[in-house]
Amino acid sequence: MFKTFSAKLAGAQAIVFFALGVGFILATERMFEGRRLLELATDLGIGVVVFSLLAALLVFNFLTRRIRALAVAVDRFRDSGFTQPIRLTSANPTGDDIDRLGAAVQEMSERIAEQLGLLEQTDVRRRELLANVSHDLRTPLASMQGYLETLLLKHGTLPPEEERSYLEVAAKHSERLARLIRDLFQLTKLEAHELKPQCESFPIAELVQDVVEKFQLAADKRGLRLSSELTGQHAQLHADIGMIESVLENLIENAMRHTSAGGVIRVEVVPLEEARVALRVIDTGRGIPSDELPTIFDRYYRVNRGEASDAGSTGLGLAITRHIIDLHGGKIRVESVLGKGTTFSIELPLDADSTVTPSAGAALP
Ligand SMILES: Nc1ncnc2c1ncn2[C@@H]1O[C@H](COP(=O)(O)OP(=O)(O)OP(=O)(O)O)[C@@H](O)[C@H]1O
Ligand SMILES: [Mg+2]
Repeated sequence: MFKTFSAKLAGAQAIVFFALGVGFILATERMFEGRRLLELATDLGIGVVVFSLLAALLVFNFLTRRIRALAVAVDRFRDSGFTQPIRLTSANPTGDDIDRLGAAVQEMSERIAEQLGLLEQTDVRRRELLANVSHDLRTPLASMQGYLETLLLKHGTLPPEEERSYLEVAAKHSERLARLIRDLFQLTKLEAHELKPQCESFPIAELVQDVVEKFQLAADKRGLRLSSELTGQHAQLHADIGMIESVLENLIENAMRHTSAGGVIRVEVVPLEEARVALRVIDTGRGIPSDELPTIFDRYYRVNRGEASDAGSTGLGLAITRHIIDLHGGKIRVESVLGKGTTFSIELPLDADSTVTPSAGAALP
């Protein structure tokens, strides 16, 4: 009945006035009986004042109880460093003004605590990234510096073959440094949505074949069997050819790096329903532990940091890959069994003009 705060106040006032009125009528009756006008008027005056004061105090106390509880909760929220959101028993978004105010403050406190948590997480990740980047930049830089200083110190005294090998090592480290900086630059631009794909139509099977051929020699040298299986010969993508090529390169490079001699790496192109195509890179390598799979696409993530950084990897490849696939409206997924092998599957939309027959039951879930 008394929905709003002002209605409650009006109700309380009406009760007080009603009580005063009853008191006045009773007093007036007695006054006419006993003719004690002055005495009664004084008594009545004092009574009315005392009663009004007490009633006002009670009403005020009753009505401000929830506001005081809210103030205490806000103080507690501030004391917790804005991390523990307010919990009010009277917060009711469909109640009176004070209930709604409580509900709004409670919701605001939840949002503030959530945003603060996110900010903290971002800050931790930023610091981790900075530490990782500094470490990875410092390592090749320090090696390069060491070799170049030795060359300068021993200039003219070193046999030519030794001098050349020092120069080769320094060049290898500078190459690694350049790659790391290039990848970081690309990832930062992708994350900031500053890199726009230069899309064109091309047959995906041809690109896969070219990339596989590029790695064939290296695979042979390492005793790996690298092959491609191309079912969608006419499947056309409308995509940035350079970006898709770098995605394939990273996945094949990863597969080769983590598969030992005698292992098999297969790259598949399979047309799917709804004008989409699947690209798969399947290896029989060492696999990825299941608890590490959810973090595999995070930037700077490596299953074994020390080992991978020696092998010349930057740990940014899959993060870049995922951003590129997102940018093209696709999906990427990984399945892996430790000690048995890993499959990376990518699903991409085909060019609108591309007509291919889909292979049954090949879509990503
Ligand atoms: N096919 C695979 N088999 C086993 N582990 C893999 C495979 N692919 C990726 N990984 C694991 O995931 C990590 C992240 O891969 P990612 O491509 O992002 O980085 P990287 O290969 O270490 O460095 P980069 O690609 O920048 O040179 C790798 O370090 C490796 O530990
Ligand atoms: Mg990689």
